[in-house]
Order: sequence, then C-alpha cells, then structure tokens
Amino acid sequence: ELLRFDTDAELVQRFIERLCKQLSQAIAERGEAYLVVSGGRTPIKLFSELSQQPLDWARVTITLADERWVAADDAASNECLVRMHLLQHRAAAAKFVSLLDSTVGAAASARSAESKLAQLPTFDVVILGLGEDGHTASLFPCSAELETGLTTKTAALVVTPTTAPHQRISMSLRRLLDSRQIYFHLSGAAKADVLARALKDTNHLAMPVRAVLQQTQVPVSVLLAG
Ligand code: 6PG
Repeated sequence: ELLRFDTDAELVQRFIERLCKQLSQAIAERGEAYLVVSGGRTPIKLFSELSQQPLDWARVTITLADERWVAADDAASNECLVRMHLLQHRAAAAKFVSLLDSTVGAAASARSAESKLAQLPTFDVVILGLGEDGHTASLFPCSAELETGLTTKTAALVVTPTTAPHQRISMSLRRLLDSRQIYFHLSGAAKADVLARALKDTNHLAMPVRAVLQQTQVPVSVLLAG
C-alpha cells in the first residue's frame, strides 16, 4: 500500500500510531517485539517521536537493516544515529543488537553479526529507506553484494567491497523478508521519483527496492511525504 502525506509531521504521526499498535500487539501475543530500522536522515524525526512512546520497551529488541564499517561510536555509523535519536527517553530501555564489532575485520565481524541475527526470530516490523540511486538498506544497484543479497538462501548479511566512503554490511533480502511487516519511509520529491521509477523498472538489479516491492510474502507499506 502507498500512503501519501502532505508533510513529514503528518507522516510521522500516522507512522507512530501504526508502529505502536504493531509492536504492542507483538508484545501482547509473544511477549516481545523485534524492530529493524535503517539509517539516513529521513528517520531522525520518527526516531525521536518513537522514543517517547509509552511502549513496554524492555520487551522490544531493535537492530539495523544495514551498517557502515566504522567504529560504533563513529558519527557515520547507523548505530550512533540510533543511540542518539531512538534509544533515548522511554525507548532507552529497549535491547539493541549491534551489527558492528570494529575490533575485528569486516568479514569476521559480519560472521559474528550473522550469528547474532540467527538468534532473532521473524521480525515484527522492518523500516527501510530508499537512496536516490534506488538502494535500500545497503543493497546497491548492479552490485555483486546486491546479487548475493537478493539471491542468497542462507546468509542474513552481505558485505560490500571496500568502497568509498565506507564499506557496508547489509541484511540480505531473504532476512529482511523474514518479517511480518515492511515499511518504506520516504520524504521529498526526489524519493517520490525514485519510487515511481522503481514501480516501472522491471530490472530490480538496477533498482533493488523493486525486489522488495515485488515480493508477495510480506505486507509492504510505503509512506511518502511531500
Ligand atoms: C544507510 C541507510 C540507507 C538509507 C538511504 C536513505 O545506511 O545509508 O540505511 O539505506 O535508508 O540511503 O537515506 P536518507 O534518509 O538520508 O535519504
């Protein structure tokens, strides 16, 4: 489903209502809730609103759809962004599963993150962004890790080659789809254009977001402001 909003504020308000309902329902049914978020600038307002919601946060586990290969306290890391804007206020009580262990190399650390992800059940909610080149998480168009990320039947994570400015790791499509609900959170005309192209483009290697939009196993909601 595509939900359009005139302003970011209206989008965030409706998004918060839906997220609180879905996470509370998961906690009521299974005693815990699993939330996957993405980095970038778009989700910052959502994170700060969400962090103040009266959820039973101690029963919520949060992890990241992708991460840059930097130290966990490096401002470029998505972990730093989540700690600064989401794991605050009431949501400070949530559990966070880090994908970063920058004391070891990327491949070794991806292996340890892989084993951590293997412990996590089906996610209740996955929130993805969309890059202007059509990437989502860190599955970039026409890239080797995108192919692996789209086709792997086992790996939960793929590691990009050391490309500037940061090497990245990303959840694979398989692991992202092991979820009950996927959201795309988009803001602005540039992202609306990318979405329109993705809905038209048949080659999802050129437009990874299409691989998610095209799948039929998991409900996907696109929230677009502006
Ligand atoms: C990342 C994000 C990435 C992001 C898009 C959109 O690590 O960069 O996970 O996938 O969602 O690049 O970013 P903006 O919200 O800043 O446009």
